[in-house]
Formats: sequence, structure tokens, C-alpha cells
Amino acid sequence: MKKTIKDYDLNGKKVMIRCDFNVPITNGKIDDDNRIRMSLKTINYAIDNNAKVILLSHLGKIKEESDKEKNSLEIVSVRLSELINRKVIFSHDTKSEELTRLVNNLKEKDVLLIENTRYEDLDGKKESSCDMGLAKYWASLGDIFINDAYGTCHRAHASNVGIARLLPNGIGFLVEEEITKIDSVLKENTHPFIIIMGGKKVSDKIPIIKNLINKCDLLLIGGAMAFTFLKAKGYNVGNSIVDVDNISFCKEMLEKYPNKILLPIDIINENNDNIKIENIKDDIGYDIGKETIKLYCDKIKDAKRIIVNGPMGMFENENYENGTRKIYECISENNIKTIIGGGDSASSVKKLGFDGKFYHISTGGGATLEYLSGEILPGISVIEDEEESLH
Ligand code: 3PG
Repeated sequence: MKKTIKDYDLNGKKVMIRCDFNVPITNGKIDDDNRIRMSLKTINYAIDNNAKVILLSHLGKIKEESDKEKNSLEIVSVRLSELINRKVIFSHDTKSEELTRLVNNLKEKDVLLIENTRYEDLDGKKESSCDMGLAKYWASLGDIFINDAYGTCHRAHASNVGIARLLPNGIGFLVEEEITKIDSVLKENTHPFIIIMGGKKVSDKIPIIKNLINKCDLLLIGGAMAFTFLKAKGYNVGNSIVDVDNISFCKEMLEKYPNKILLPIDIINENNDNIKIENIKDDIGYDIGKETIKLYCDKIKDAKRIIVNGPMGMFENENYENGTRKIYECISENNIKTIIGGGDSASSVKKLGFDGKFYHISTGGGATLEYLSGEILPGISVIEDEEESLH
């Protein structure tokens, strides 16, 4: 078990919390503030325990000077201030005497948000390459470091891994909840354990399939990636998307696990017609069909554990959202312990109105994919273990 924020006396301490405020923004407005909301438990805990709270996050990618304006965290400081109902001091600098001065002037319960850590990427990718000089500067501003940026745990950046190497550290409530819940579904010895996988590219899913195929009882496949599997099985898939480079991987999996992998038996094409797989001509498949929904739901209702990674169809268009919706309905009606992992799955849950209906909806995109693939996440492994604390 990793050390957590609760293992420290925060009273009067400068507590640096790395959050993942990498939220979608369109035309200067936050489209979805979920990641900010999910950070509140840790931030409020630090405030309630009289810490001087210093928050760090990245937002988007900063490759050139012109990327800075649209990726400023100032808009996040405004939203955060509304959510915690107190002033948030915003530092326009990521590294300066002025920032050091702001930090030195903090009083207990004050909250300071530092500008996008990736602004430092303009100076030789210092943030993204975990430059220890930069980490040392940031670490000099705090007494304790808490990593609560679950969505960034697969990155080894100066603002997460770098600072953690230099300060007494722990994980926040969000990271704790994510790993505890994902582990609980991954490791519990109850069956059937079903993986439901969708999305476009097979290549993104290969590590997860490799890691989980022997642990699960069934792998139900939907989304565009199903067409690569169907092609590997010898079907004509018309003009549907095929990940040509990975047909041989799909073939190998189908040969090795013929009874474990289920593929769609019908699809919805571009004209919203329900077509049997064997009748596909030059159609483009955008969703799973009615018979597939029935087949999949029949399996799902007996499951004890489910991991969903990727939508069943192009849910962004309401003509092709039915497959994803029906699968979610089936899972939630049967009250099955389910993890929703991956950015697209989380968006589909929200769009289709299933928020709060599952055991856990992960805030991680890439981080969750890597975690489900069995990778060790550097942002977590750098944190001290409870019993081995050096501080
Ligand atoms: C995410 O949105 O998955 C995380 O914030 C990480 O962002 P990144 O892919 O730009 O590193």
C-alpha cells in the first residue's frame, strides 16, 4: 500500500498537490469539469487540515509559444474557486521570483494554482522529460508532495515523478480510489469475468488483450475494431474501418481463444439499416446490431465482474448510439461490478446518461489503458510504500 495524504500532519505545511486538470475546453469554456470535481476531495481535505495548498497540473500540449494562451489554467482556477467556494490565487508563472513570493506569502487554508506545468516544455521539454533541475525548483516551494493526478500517472514528468523524488510524498484520494477499485475488479476471484471492448484501433488494445485474455472468461468485441477481427475471420466487411496492420494479431487471438472471443453477428450501417454480418456488401459499420446486443446482453447478465474499454459504436452520432446504450443498460440493470475505463468510454457514459450507474468510472485515459495492460505507472511507483517510508 502506498502512503496517502492521510499519513501526514498537514497543519501549517506547504502541501503541493499534483492534479490532472487536463479538461476539454472549447472557445474558452470548460466542456466537462469532471476532473476538477474529482480532485476536490483531496484539495478540501488539505484545506480542512490547515495546509497551505499549492496545486500543479498540465493542460494540453505546449509545443510553441502560441499554444500557451489556449492552454492556460486560469480558466480552471476560476471554476475551482466556484467549486471550493473560496479564492484561488493564480500564478501566471511556472517558475519565477514572483511565484516564490506568492508561495512564501501563503497562509493556512490558502489555495494557489500554478500555471500549466507544460509551459516549461518550451524550454527544452523540461516538464515532460522530468528535468530534475525544474523538479528541484518546484520541490523547494513545498514541504509535502501529494500525487492526485491519476490521469497523468503513466507519464514521468518533473511535476509528478520529479517532485516526488525530492519531497516526503503520498497519493491523494482520487489516485487511491482509482487503483483500489480497478484492482478490486481485476483481482477478485469471481466469475464470469467479462471484458467488453470497443473503439477504433486494435493497436491501442493489443496490450490490454494480451494482459487480460487469460484472466477473463469472455471478451465481447464491438466498435470499429470488431471489423478487423471479422476480416481476420474471413468476412467481407465492406467499407468499414480495418486496422490492416493488426489483422494477423486478431487471427492469432481467434485461433488461440475461439470460445472466449465473441464478435458481432449483425451491424448498423451508414443508412441505419440492421445488416447481418454475412450480408455486408459495401456498407460501413457504425454500431452493433440488434442480434448482437441480444447475444452480448445474454452473457453480460450472468457476469460477476466487467471491464468496459471502448464504446460499441459511434455514440457521438445519435443514429449509432444504441449499441453502447443497450450494453450500459444491461450492465446497470443487472447491477454488475463494472469498471468503465478509457476516455471515450467515460464520455459515452456521460453523454448517454449513465453517470453514477457503475461501480467505477475511471478519470484516466492513457493511464487506465496502461494500468489494465499490466504496466507499472511511474507516477504511482515513485510514491513511498507505507512501511518503507524514509522520511
Ligand atoms: C490525459 O488526458 O489522458 C492525461 O491528462 C494525460 O495527458 P497527455 O496524454 O497529454 O499526457
